[in-house]
Amino acid sequence: MSGSTLGDRPLAVARSHLVRTVEEAAIACAATVGQGDRHHSDQVAVSAMRRVLDTVPVRGRVVIGEGERDQAPMLWSGERFGGGGEGAPELDIAVDPLEGTNLCATGGPGAIAVLAGSERGGLLTAPDVYMEKIMVGPASRDLLGDAIRLEHPPERNVRAIAEAEGVPTSQVTVVVLERPRHEDLIAGLRRAGARVRLIGDGDLSAGILSALPGSGIHAAMGSGGAPEGVIAAAALRCLGGGMLGQLLARNEAEQRRLLETGVEDAGRVLTAGELAPGRRLIFCAAGVTDGALVAGVRFSEGAIETHTLLITNDPPELTRISRRRHR
Ligand code: FBP
Repeated sequence: MSGSTLGDRPLAVARSHLVRTVEEAAIACAATVGQGDRHHSDQVAVSAMRRVLDTVPVRGRVVIGEGERDQAPMLWSGERFGGGGEGAPELDIAVDPLEGTNLCATGGPGAIAVLAGSERGGLLTAPDVYMEKIMVGPASRDLLGDAIRLEHPPERNVRAIAEAEGVPTSQVTVVVLERPRHEDLIAGLRRAGARVRLIGDGDLSAGILSALPGSGIHAAMGSGGAPEGVIAAAALRCLGGGMLGQLLARNEAEQRRLLETGVEDAGRVLTAGELAPGRRLIFCAAGVTDGALVAGVRFSEGAIETHTLLITNDPPELTRISRRRHR
């Protein structure tokens, strides 16, 4: 008997388990916040995530994990997981057990444990290379690839976003990772009069905030991790936002990795629908440290409190889950 896909069965089969997966990862690395060891923080998040994934009653496959099997023995891209037998729903996931390793290590805001899931084949397998991104909310989504393009000067994109949002350019807020490679982008956004919010890490959260009602963020721009791009695309599709992403190979080794992953035309600009084409998508993010997307883990005498954002597209749902458990 062949297994059903998530398209055949309610995503409810997996959702509570996936929420627990990010909660456990967040709790594990929250205990390491501010310890200055980002690799250790990441490792405990990976181990915690891996443990819970084995209990999910699906036939699961990690399409984006922590790298290749030899470098990431616990949660590698291509690894199978889940406790579901034959006939159980098939689930693909893209994970980032700790997004913002530096933020966690330094106690900065916005570290999260995050994953996206879909039926088989619903998330692009992207290796850990960079991706040039523009992520926007629902108002600007239909302008992507037209008035808003990666190759446009930032001023032109800001004008298009301002018009779509119905605000002057001086009220458009764009989040950008503070990196030397973004100097021209930042200068162009400033010339356009946009409000530029520079962040140290975490363009995944920034992208999602651009489509989250009431966030005050209109767009996130610049290059960041491709895995983060795919996970953000899943959330953006659920929220009605949009994205353009172009994989960047900086050298021959990265070019080879793209080819090995099946990406032949790396230069092609991909939409959110191509990065996360799934019919049924789920996104879960649990806060490690407090951030604009979701609050972090709270430890108190005898209890641990977690805060998780759960987003799905079918049915459309955005739920904030706060859970207090006793130790
Ligand atoms: P990590 O959690 O892997 O450290 O990623 C944090 C992050 O800021 C991502 O949000 C972003 O996509 C990427 O790093 C940018 O990479 P770089 O720090 O090399 O500019």
